[in-house]
Amino acid sequence: MAMNRNKAESRIHELHAALRHHDYLYYVKDQPEISDSEYDGLFQELRELEDQFPDLVTPDSPTQRVGGVPLDDFTKIRHAAPMLSLDSDQAEDALRRFDERVRRTLGASRVDYVVEPKLDGASVELVYENGILTRASTRGDGTVGEGITDNVRTIAAIPLRLRSVGAKPPAFLAIRGEVIMRIAAFEELNEMLLVEGKSPFANPRNAAAGSLRQLDPQVTAARPLDIYLYDVLAGEGTSLQTQWDVLGALASWGLRVNDLPRRISSVDDIVDYHMDLQARRDDLEYEIDGVVVKLDDIAAREVLGATSHHPRWAFAFKFPPRKEITRVLKIVPSVGRTGVVTPGALLRPVELGGVTVSRANLHNREEVARKDIREGDLVRVQRAGDVIPQVLERVAEPGRRRGHPFRMPSHCPSCGSELVERGPFTVCPNSYQCPAQLAARLEHFASRDALDIEGLGEETAKLLVNQGLVRRLPDLFELEPGDLVRLEGFATKSASNLVAAIEHSSAVDLHRFLYGLGIPEVGVTVAKTLATHFRSLEALRRSSGAELESIDGVGPKMAEQIESFFSDARNDSILDDLLAGKIMVVEGAGGEGTALQGLKFVFTGALQRMTRRQAKELVESLGASVVSSVSRETDYVVVGTDPGSKYDKAIAVGVTTLSEDGFIDLLHDSGVEV
Ligand code: IVH
Repeated sequence: MAMNRNKAESRIHELHAALRHHDYLYYVKDQPEISDSEYDGLFQELRELEDQFPDLVTPDSPTQRVGGVPLDDFTKIRHAAPMLSLDSDQAEDALRRFDERVRRTLGASRVDYVVEPKLDGASVELVYENGILTRASTRGDGTVGEGITDNVRTIAAIPLRLRSVGAKPPAFLAIRGEVIMRIAAFEELNEMLLVEGKSPFANPRNAAAGSLRQLDPQVTAARPLDIYLYDVLAGEGTSLQTQWDVLGALASWGLRVNDLPRRISSVDDIVDYHMDLQARRDDLEYEIDGVVVKLDDIAAREVLGATSHHPRWAFAFKFPPRKEITRVLKIVPSVGRTGVVTPGALLRPVELGGVTVSRANLHNREEVARKDIREGDLVRVQRAGDVIPQVLERVAEPGRRRGHPFRMPSHCPSCGSELVERGPFTVCPNSYQCPAQLAARLEHFASRDALDIEGLGEETAKLLVNQGLVRRLPDLFELEPGDLVRLEGFATKSASNLVAAIEHSSAVDLHRFLYGLGIPEVGVTVAKTLATHFRSLEALRRSSGAELESIDGVGPKMAEQIESFFSDARNDSILDDLLAGKIMVVEGAGGEGTALQGLKFVFTGALQRMTRRQAKELVESLGASVVSSVSRETDYVVVGTDPGSKYDKAIAVGVTTLSEDGFIDLLHDSGVEV
């Protein structure tokens, strides 16, 4: 129904504010308050109103993120203040010299520093005028960069309009930050590029920088970029006196600020911070390559000054590089879970940032040919996060005789089937019987983002398959400690631990289960999208290619793969067997903040429709907990058959009791289908 213009205008304002607020909660605070579908509803309402009244569309409207048209070239943008680089070193000595110089020059007995992670991404300048994002540029030569405004607008974590709930942002504000790509997103992007026959990015930094420098903003929009802001280059009328205040001010304007910075005042604390972050480096979701130390007091920075390249008040205390040169001993093809045969390089072991590496990924035969890597070559390898290192390039050795160019085998190294070529990939077509494929699928099924079965990694998966203990995924849930103790490397304790871990994993959220199935093209993100859309495995199994394709984030190729996965009778039978009492897929749980948040459950007696462990997982997935004894603090006692004394206690202290059916009803009410 058409709305009158005045009403529409005020509703549009309301929707802008609401969507901005929810973007902020989601992207900056990481604490959404509404579901994705509620958000989509608001967004759709705004779209429709803007369609009716196109003149009410403003550049800061949440619908206008992907509005830019492809460019022929980037415009040049002069930065509001020079974007300097940092003096850097890995040596503690160099850090101590930096600190001494600061203390000597300032003549102060006490000096505060802010230490921050050195984010490995692409440095950008953002300019907000009257709170609205008006331009963005790359660092360029530090004085002039390339205009990437339309691209930057597509990054959801960057507000198009600043918040002004606390201190109002200045009328003119130029800020600096690092655009990054998270490691998981980087991996997914590379997989996709490879599927499309394109070259993958060497590391998340190149992926971030390359995605920003796209002439077509649509391409940038499809890349999962993120940002952390850390500096004010120019701010009209701001009186920020310390770096600590800068970070606080940026956060108060609704900008994403990293949560690792600390304020400290001794060089020993800097060294501790550096060691601590280095130890945690592989656990972070993004790449960092050191610690940035900044003099906290902004006025005092003037006293120290700068060279033409870098300020004397800041220092990058770097980590040892995760890029090294080593030799390729052998190139061996290995078969992955989708049957794709990937050439891998066995390397002369080399230390990459604290980890000894002896294998690296070469992706596919075209990549090997493109980089011209042969056995015996010297190569540069790099590691990001805890993922498999990559061979970046060959290091030329003039005058050295080289081996033969690599050739893919004609038959599968695992099952002997004749290999087939699909685009840039060489594939083993024996999907269901090839032991290597099954072992890789099993490993994936058990991996952290899937069922998260502790103790079931690559080696164990291979062992289980090669010893014939697992011929299909459902066999996993039949394993008993007795089967495992016979295997090499297993003792009584590790065998029962693994069986317990498998059982523990058997109540699993829908999106984890979907990801774990290893459907080609379905990574963590798509699995979540599918789970949110369908809310139940059955609905997904019944869906059509057309419905799949209509989902935002699911392309035609993906839809085809998903459809063909679920229409394969062999997959059907595997799924049916998994669901027949082995696995309980937790469906429809919104994940965040749910109805049972904080409640305490006690179970007594035997349950018929699930195991205790599954019940516990379900309850915990809804934010509640299971306790072992009944008290007045208990919220519910779930009573199965042959209950024990806990039932009497519940009656005595007046705690609500539930039958198993009542418990299941309660789960239903919380949006979980069991
Ligand atoms: S401050 C004058 N802080 O490191 C101060 N830079 O080699 C300049 N970087 O180009 C930058 N994380 O892209 C600063 N927390 C952080 C940083 C950071 C990463 C990058 C930045 C710069 C490079 C210097």
